[in-house]
This record gives sequence, C-alpha cells and structure tokens, in this order.
Amino acid sequence: MNIRSECDSDLAAINDLVYTAFLNHPQHAPGALPKEHTIVNNLRAAGALFVSLVAEDNGVIIGHIAMSEVLIDGRSDGWYGGGPLAVHPSRQRQGIGSSLVDRGIQALRERGARGVALVGDPKYYGRFGFGPAPELVLPGVPPEYFLVLPLELPMPAGSVSFHAAFGC
Ligand SMILES: CC(C)(COP(=O)(O)OP(=O)(O)OC[C@H]1O[C@@H](n2cnc3c(N)ncnc32)[C@H](O)[C@@H]1OP(=O)(O)O)[C@@H](O)C(=O)NCCC(=O)NCCS
Repeated sequence: MNIRSECDSDLAAINDLVYTAFLNHPQHAPGALPKEHTIVNNLRAAGALFVSLVAEDNGVIIGHIAMSEVLIDGRSDGWYGGGPLAVHPSRQRQGIGSSLVDRGIQALRERGARGVALVGDPKYYGRFGFGPAPELVLPGVPPEYFLVLPLELPMPAGSVSFHAAFGC
C-alpha cells in the first residue's frame, strides 16, 4: 500500500471510492445518497483542495483524504479542515485510514499549516491528538464532535467556517 498525492488520472476512482465509502453511512438519513464525493469534486474545482492523498494498492485506489483551508472569524489563519476521509469498505480496519490521517497531518506540517480542524468521532480522531478546544467553535456542530489539532501555538480563537463546498 502506497500513499501519494492525487494525480489527474485518479479523479474518477477517487469519486467512486468516496461515494462507496459513505454509502449507507450511519450518520446519513436513511435512504439519503452520499454527498461527500461531491464535496471533494467541488473543492478541487474551486482550487481549494490543499491536500489530496490517495492510498493505492496494486494500482487500485482504496483510500482518500482531503484537506482544505478553513477560515477563523472569516480570516485566513493557516488552519485547515480535514476530510472527507474515506477507505473502501472492503479494506477498512487495516490501518489505511490512520495512515491517511497521519500523512495528511504531515503534509500540512510540511506546508506550514498552523492547525487542523474536523468534524468526527472523538474515539477515532483522539488517537491522532485531535480533541475539543473551547477557543474554536463550528456553528451548528456539537462541540464534542468538532475536533482540532493545533500544529503551532498560540491557539487562535473564533468561529470556524469550512469551504462553501461543504455546504453542497
Ligand atoms: C472511518 C474510516 C475512514 C476509518 O478507516 P479505517 O482504515 O477503517 O481505519 P483504521 O484501520 O486506521 O482504524 C480502525 C480503527 O478505527 C476505529 N473506527 C473506524 N471507524 C470508526 C468510527 N466511525 N468511529 C470510531 N471508531 C472507528 C475502528 O474501531 C478501529 O479501531 P481499533 O484499531 O481499535 O480496532 C473508514 O471506516 C471509512 O471510510 N468509513 C466511512 C466514511 C467515514 O465515516 N469517514 C470518516 C468521517 S469523515
């Protein structure tokens, strides 16, 4: 298994993978179709896909993580939003998601990011150092599921907004 940045020939496979991973997701309304693949496509189309890593095994894309800039009180402050994160259902619980998160954080560090924020399960993301932070809020999201990982101090404070692609 190899983790690398996306290239143009991966785009259809990433789309299919993200769709498949989120199909029948427990946090979706029953019968609702996934929209996470559209988020990735719209981020890319907007030039906002800051980090896009694929996990590839024998030429097959089996995992993907996206990172895009978030704003804090409407300002750019070097913080990035993690996700969507997707691993093909047939390859989950083999450490691929963890490798993608680790490498995504590494890519952000290398590019000078000051922190990462995401919405996710604290039990899963806690292992990477993510946790709640009272300084930052994501309107409409319960604080226990809005998790942050500062890469540089001091911590900023304010209201976080993800790219408009997440509202699709
Ligand atoms: C969440 C996801 C990316 C994890 O990928 P993965 O490759 O299976 O994860 P890993 O193998 O690195 O880690 C597996 C561990 O995470 C735990 N885990 C996986 N999904 C979890 C979840 N939603 N909540 C809590 N824990 C979870 C497993 O219990 C396992 O724990 P263990 O190591 O103690 O047994 C994958 O299950 C997936 O694509 N799910 C559908 C899409 C999704 O929910 N994405 C994340 C939200 S943005």
